[in-house]
This record gives sequence, C-alpha cells and structure tokens, in this order.
Amino acid sequence: MELKKEYTVYILGGGQLGQMIWYAAQKLSKKLGITITVVFLCKEDDLCTSFDHQIGDINRYSDVYNFGLRLKGVENAVLSIEIEECNLMALMQLEEEGVVVYPSSSSLESIQDKYKQISRLNYGRIPVPRFTLCKNRQELINFYRDVAASIIWKPKMGGRDGLGIRVVNNQADSAKIPNAIPGVAQPLLDIAKEVSVLVARNAKGITRCSPVFETIQDSETHCLHYLKYSQDDELQNNKALYQIIANNSVVSLDIIGLAAVEMFLLSNGAILVNEVAPRLHNSGHLTNEFANFSQGEMYLRAILDLELPDWQMDFPEALLQNIVGPDDLSGEYSFKGIWEFMEYSNNMKNTSIDCNIYKKSTTRPGRKLAHIAFAGPDASALEDALAVYNKMVSVTQM
Ligand SMILES: Nc1ncnc2c1ncn2[C@@H]1O[C@H](COP(=O)(O)OP(=O)(O)OP(=O)(O)O)[C@@H](O)[C@H]1O
Ligand SMILES: [Mg+2]
Repeated sequence: MELKKEYTVYILGGGQLGQMIWYAAQKLSKKLGITITVVFLCKEDDLCTSFDHQIGDINRYSDVYNFGLRLKGVENAVLSIEIEECNLMALMQLEEEGVVVYPSSSSLESIQDKYKQISRLNYGRIPVPRFTLCKNRQELINFYRDVAASIIWKPKMGGRDGLGIRVVNNQADSAKIPNAIPGVAQPLLDIAKEVSVLVARNAKGITRCSPVFETIQDSETHCLHYLKYSQDDELQNNKALYQIIANNSVVSLDIIGLAAVEMFLLSNGAILVNEVAPRLHNSGHLTNEFANFSQGEMYLRAILDLELPDWQMDFPEALLQNIVGPDDLSGEYSFKGIWEFMEYSNNMKNTSIDCNIYKKSTTRPGRKLAHIAFAGPDASALEDALAVYNKMVSVTQM
C-alpha cells in the first residue's frame, strides 16, 4: 500500500458523527504523518460549522452537486456522508463526472428505502425477517390477518431512530398507521438480544469486522439506549457467525466505507439482519476510546484505501448509555452535576471513562445530546459507575 501525503474528504452532513470523523482525521493524520482535510456540507446550526465547512442542504441537488464538484480532478479525494438521507441524483451525476463517492449512490439508494434494502439483503441470501411492502392501510390489514399475530410497521422512506415505527397488536391498531404512507411490515419477532457489528470495507473489497456489541433499545421509542461489550458466552461463542453475517450484508449492499449491521438473536436461536446503516453508528461509540481503532479511523482507512488492521477492544467489558433530551424540555439546557461527577470519577479504580458531550446548543425531547461510557475488567463496577452518573447528573433547563 502506497501512503500518499495529502487526502481530502468531503462529508455530507455535520452532526455528532461528523464531529467524530473530524477528530479521527486529526488523529490519523498525526499517526501516519499525512494530511487528511475534512470539509462538511451542513446547516448553519450544525455542530460541524466549527470545522472547515460550507453551508447548504444535503437534500438539495444544486448544493450537493456544487459541493462535490470541487473534488473533480482532485487526487486522493472522496465525497462521503455522515447521514444517508441526501440527494442521490446529485451523487449520481458527480460519479458520472469522475468524482469518487463512497458509499456509492447505488448503495445509498438501497439503504434510503427500507423495502429496497431488505429485498436486496434477501436476494443476497442474508437471513432477514419475513417482510412485505404495504402501500396502504388495507394491505397492512391483509398482512396482519395473514401473520395472525402482532406485526411491526416501519415507514419505507425516511425512518431513523425508531421514528414512525408502529406496533399493530390487533386490527383496530391499524388505524395508528398513516393510510397513504408506504411502509414495510414484519411479524413482531420474539427477540432475545439485539447485536451490532461494524464492518469497514475498502474499494478492493477487503473487509474488517468490529467486535460484537449488544444494543439495548428503549421499548417505547425503539431507539438505542444502552450499548454493551462483554464476555457473555453467547456473544463470544457466536462472534464469528455474527461477523460473517455482517460482512456478507455489507458485501450484498456493496458498501464502501463503514457500516453498522444491526441483527436480532431470536428466542429460537435464529440470527436475522434487521438493517444496515452505511456510516459511523451509535453502536460503534464504544470503539471511540476503548478499542485499538475508533470507528472513525476505520471508516477513513476504508474510504482512503489505507491499511485495514484487525479491530479489537482494549477492555474485556464496556458499557455505554445515550444521554437524550428529557420529554419536558426544549431549548437551552445544561448538564447539572457533570463537573462534580467528573471530579468523583477521577478516583474510580480500574474503570476508564468516555464522557462525550456533543455540545448541541439546544435540546428537544429524545434528542441525542451526549453519551457516557465506562470500560474495565469488571462488569458490575461499570454498572455501579453508571448508576452513580445517573444519580449525580441530569439534563436541566439553563
Ligand atoms: N420485526 C421486528 N420485531 C420486533 N422488534 C422489531 C422488529 N423490527 C424492529 N424492531 C425493534 O425496533 C427497533 C428499531 O427498528 P429499526 O432499526 O428497523 O428502525 P430505525 O428507525 O431504523 O431505528 P434506528 O435508526 O434507531 O436503527 C429495533 O432495534 C427493534 O428493537
Ligand atoms: Mg435500527
């Protein structure tokens, strides 16, 4: 592998994942003695406006096209994403004109549409839940009658962080589903555990998988709440299986870059792929401080065709909690008790801490504001540390 001096990465979007990419680029540049310039296309109030950026709408053709066009003819330059909802027509045109886009517009097209995504995975012989496209409420009722048990409905387009997901337990419940919005319906599965594996894949098709993480969702919002890395027997024994399924999913969707593959372990022992996110992911946050490589570094290595090393955790146990905006608070906010907790945590033995506050200027119910994570040799010490955090720290009005 030839190491070049200068690399340029243009990113669509500029939230906390973009921030993580920027920090990873600084670290990797220093480590390898190279320069990785990262520029964001983002909104005026996005976090990444504190870095090199251009203001624009990642869903508007002209904004994306003009941003990407600056890379035309530039060597070692890649146009990439921090979030998958962006203008595909502009990406297609830029690819046509020779700009390198990773993940490609074709991969992103399959990801943006939950029906296309699950169909493509299914076609690639990846185990997925039984699914059907419901163009309207009547089709959903038909599927419900056919399954003869509870079902789950997800909007075909634009769903993320559990938004729009509805559980249908009886025919009357189908009134909860918007009639004119197409969705994907699946039987409501008996899930024993949810796991995630991140896969870094470069343009040559070389891949590296992360360790296996357990994700714990909020039962109301269907959104990730806790993340765990542990020596749990089932996770360690099935590690290779989870990694192969994740690897094959990313190959099926032909993703270049980094992707998180969300999987279900069912109570009957079957493993099914839920969905794939073609970017840095919440389930990768434990690698930011507690692994030999962060997800941001693995992502940059993949898109820039740098060496893809083995990826391991540095600790036997790790635990993360997302900190989201409380239901009764919108606007400016503060983390009450955070300094007292940081002081307290200085005396914690055998427990490493990663407290990442995203510095968003305002909160709203459920908005991801920060994460707190602990790693060490002893799982119960991490649970205790988290309990102390939850007792001492709260998100309150400014
Ligand atoms: N078929 C199913 N049976 C039971 N639970 C399910 C099923 N599909 C999804 N869920 C639950 O809903 C959660 C969110 O589903 P999914 O990942 O498809 O939605 P999403 O809006 O893309 O969420 P996110 O962006 O947080 O990953 C899953 O992690 C799981 O807890
Ligand atoms: Mg999901």
